[in-house]
Amino acid sequence: MKVVVVGKGGREHALAQKLKESSSVTDLWVCPGNPGMSLTGLQCADVETTEEIERFCLQNAVNLVVVGPEASILSDLKQRLQSQGISCFAPSAKVAALESSKLFCKGILKDAGVPTAACLVGYSEKEALQFIQQHDFTQPLVVKADGLAQGKGVWVCESLAKAREAVQVLGSQYGFPLLLEECLVGKELSAFALCDGKDFVLLGTACDYKRITPDPFSANTGGMGAYSPCDFITPEDEKTLREFFAKTLACLHSKNLSYQGFLFAGLMKTSEGLFVLEYNVRLGDPETQALLPRLKTDLAQLIVAAVTHNLQNQVCELKPEVSVHVVAVSEGYPQGPLNTGHPVAIQSRVLQQLYYAGVCEKQNALVNSGGRVLGVTALGSSKEQARVLAYQDIHKVSFKGMYVREDIGL
Ligand code: AMP
Ligand code: GLY
Repeated sequence: MKVVVVGKGGREHALAQKLKESSSVTDLWVCPGNPGMSLTGLQCADVETTEEIERFCLQNAVNLVVVGPEASILSDLKQRLQSQGISCFAPSAKVAALESSKLFCKGILKDAGVPTAACLVGYSEKEALQFIQQHDFTQPLVVKADGLAQGKGVWVCESLAKAREAVQVLGSQYGFPLLLEECLVGKELSAFALCDGKDFVLLGTACDYKRITPDPFSANTGGMGAYSPCDFITPEDEKTLREFFAKTLACLHSKNLSYQGFLFAGLMKTSEGLFVLEYNVRLGDPETQALLPRLKTDLAQLIVAAVTHNLQNQVCELKPEVSVHVVAVSEGYPQGPLNTGHPVAIQSRVLQQLYYAGVCEKQNALVNSGGRVLGVTALGSSKEQARVLAYQDIHKVSFKGMYVREDIGL
């Protein structure tokens, strides 16, 4: 089987590496990938637009396309490929509203009977301001933009003044409606399912580190590291997670929205149990780099089962080891400007799995070109062991201005 992975980040590096392990995959390309991936033995093809990817797949008789980033999921790529008879593992742009509209997502969660934070919807500034006026602020209020906002659309507001500011800023940047949500208190985790339209397998759980430093009030990032599995859920919680996914898929199905693709639940474990904060219609970055190396089951076979609606009797087995993934970022990340263009040096042999993201080639050398540059995943019999191994290797990497958080997996 000839496979294309669409994307160019660390998540797609981990996806491609895992798919390449499958005996059923004869050829594999990452489109467009990055030159770091090529160094680790993956083939990258310099095609990025939907037209280019479609043409590439036809020219190379590709059988299956696995899509990483949400931008490609929301594009017309799947439709194009399907009209050419090429299987594309990604949700349809329509059902991807689960991520691109928080309002749509709330509606599905409510109809599915999946616990989520209570929420009011302000369709205009006036209405939103009226609602926040009624909140007593003994607990913070969460103000959220409805659409995609690259991690900048959620304000947790401790006071009426802050909530007013949030309504004004988010309203003018992203428009209305805004969601005004009850603030949940607890620990966050991510859970991942692989879905065939009706059935799913639970791939596993992970926890990521969203802030740039250990200070919980420091800037929000795409993710500075992760570990897998989540270490604070019980077998009972895992059963609940499965029920959440099952109810959500059944609810979508009942509305003629069949969901095929990876489904990522962002959850909060509170004193009252698990709540879904949001769904994403893709795998997480960097959670994927922590989760996939633990997968024992053949990922390509699971995806083939999903695109042929045959997941019903499949299971997903994970290695018993724990993983820790540590990300190295460029100076200036996340606010910018980024200090880029510096050679990425690796002092001695990196023994663990290295995943490349924001790198490019300059005068035959690999240089940093993005915010998140690369990451290392290590497996260990304990989180502590995996952590030691991951940090040993990330400290073999250097580029001018490189920064890593030192507390991943602590
Ligand atoms: P979201 O994009 O909805 O996942 O929100 C981004 C982040 O905001 C989450 O990872 C949480 O840390 C925080 N957040 C979102 N909704 C809530 C909520 N209802 N209560 C507490 N924190 C929240
Ligand atoms: N790490 C969070 C995300 O991928 O959205």
